[in-house]
Amino acid sequence: MDVLKAINTKRAVRQFTDQPVPPEVLDKILESALRAQSSKNTQPWQLVAVRERETLVALSKLGDYMGHVAGASVCVAFAAPSDQPWIYFDLGQCAAYLQLAAHELGVGSCIGAIYHPAEAKALLHVPQEMSLLAVVSLGYPAPTHRPAVMGGRKRLTDAVHWETWDSREVS
Ligand SMILES: Cc1cc2nc3c(=O)[nH]c(=O)nc-3n(C[C@H](O)[C@H](O)[C@H](O)COP(=O)(O)O)c2cc1C
Repeated sequence: MDVLKAINTKRAVRQFTDQPVPPEVLDKILESALRAQSSKNTQPWQLVAVRERETLVALSKLGDYMGHVAGASVCVAFAAPSDQPWIYFDLGQCAAYLQLAAHELGVGSCIGAIYHPAEAKALLHVPQEMSLLAVVSLGYPAPTHRPAVMGGRKRLTDAVHWETWDSREVS
């Protein structure tokens, strides 16, 4: 798949089959995540890849919209030192690379926002001084999977300002 096609066809997948993601596929996905760019190449991320069902189910309860984690083959949690200023941006890049690589390999994914970070850190034995912001569920899309209806995107004219904010110029 070329990069533009991958970007334009990737949708959030929240229902998965029981088929496990094989270790060699998972390694490729995780290696792609580690190829992400980061501020000053600090690569602040630490990833916890969870495969045990009991832990996935417990983790799924630590965000209001994390139900998809319970049925995932794997869930990757993204942690970084709290004192580094760019971690939201850096971890977002890391997650995006991971999700695009998964898409290329036929593996569906969805982000989950952690609402109870202290509990999530305790569950995954992540030091409390780290930030644990989000997870990405991974698995093969279930036949019943349908992308959410709210899948549209802004048009260029809705989001791009040329040269200055108040410009009326168009491309
Ligand atoms: C920072 C962030 C947090 C998100 N949190 C959740 C979440 O908690 N649960 C969920 O189901 N999807 C979550 N998503 C996925 C978004 O809902 C999804 O990317 C968006 O609706 C676009 O979906 P689409 O690519 O299928 O159109 C999150 C996405 C981002 C970038």
